[in-house]
Amino acid sequence: MAIDPRPSPGTLSVWAGEPGRLDTNATQVPVVHSVSFGYDNLDEWLRVARGEAPGHNYGRNTNPTVAAFEQKVRELEGAEAATSAATGMGIISSALYALLSPGDRVVSIKDSYGGTNRLFTEFLPRFGIEVALCDTTDHEAIERQVAAGCEVLYLESPTNPTLKVVDVARLAEAGHAAGAVVMVDNTFATPINQTPLELGADLVLHSATKFLGGHADALGGVACGAKVTVDRVFHYREIHGASLHPMAAYLLLRGMKTLHLRVARQNDTALRVARFLESHPAVASVHYPGLESFEGHAIALRQMRGFGGVLAFELQESSLEAVGGVLSRLRWARLAANLGSVETVAGPPATTSHCECTPAERAAMGIPEGLIRYSVGVEDAEDLVADLERALGGLGG
Ligand SMILES: Cc1ncc(COP(=O)(O)O)c(C=O)c1O
Repeated sequence: MAIDPRPSPGTLSVWAGEPGRLDTNATQVPVVHSVSFGYDNLDEWLRVARGEAPGHNYGRNTNPTVAAFEQKVRELEGAEAATSAATGMGIISSALYALLSPGDRVVSIKDSYGGTNRLFTEFLPRFGIEVALCDTTDHEAIERQVAAGCEVLYLESPTNPTLKVVDVARLAEAGHAAGAVVMVDNTFATPINQTPLELGADLVLHSATKFLGGHADALGGVACGAKVTVDRVFHYREIHGASLHPMAAYLLLRGMKTLHLRVARQNDTALRVARFLESHPAVASVHYPGLESFEGHAIALRQMRGFGGVLAFELQESSLEAVGGVLSRLRWARLAANLGSVETVAGPPATTSHCECTPAERAAMGIPEGLIRYSVGVEDAEDLVADLERALGGLGG
């Protein structure tokens, strides 16, 4: 029998120490950076590629680290299936493009996140998809538009950045009566505070970049729902190609281990901050679903277990200049465009949720320039209240 010659250093550089399969007893989900997954024979490979056996074939389609992240969100949302994308907008656009065709109609709300709003106003109409955007809190108007016929009813609750609340159960019923797929962006609430599938939604969407990851160090998006629907979103995303990176999936997974702790803390702190701001003379109004005085409070009480970590407030002096003054006096807040992180983050819609829009477009959407979106972190509530008191004091209010 011929003895294999000793492999050359070049071949060993490539193969030595790297087994065909990696079996480890790691207690943490490994970051699998592999672009593809190898098989011992074509039969086995074909079974995996056809989905007849568990496993992965090519990284743009599926990846073990990404699959672990999807499973964690899926179980928290109580869904049959989940799929992910590189960003929140990646999964939202995948869901819309996967489920809509030219000639279809979408009904949604005026207050959806700025990027989503752009899809509705700029991109979907270019593909012959009609979009009806309704006043967010006018449930009768939404129901009328839905009854006129639509393939997708798209909701977000609470909304970014004015925290408007829509009655998901009521509108899901209307959507189903019209034969529509009901999608809900659950980014602000998180599955800790709200589970839209239980309220009747068909597809839950997240910018995992926010509370799910919770540390502002990874972008990601995820959709959960029935397998038949999620499979269509997955298929569009695998071809469109905006797949979640395994390293981002790992960071999101790691962040999510403390999701319940962070969100419970952020719920408590946001309510305290909202109550403080409500009583401050320099503040004209506070947008927070947990305040009894807030328009959406009664619906929020029915459909949410906690009111979330984001609030917004309008200054009496409603100008970008006054906003800039308050923001620059805050010590315990990053002035940045993200939200849902362990550190407090603050900013106006002009540089955050609606930076894609012109001032006139923001005004038409009812988003005041003098609004400050304030996403509480996990700092001590007393310090945040004292910080806001100091910053608002500078207005002389
Ligand atoms: C409610 C909501 N949905 C979707 C998105 C888009 O997510 P991403 O920035 O991860 O694309 C955002 C981003 O701020 C958001 O706030």
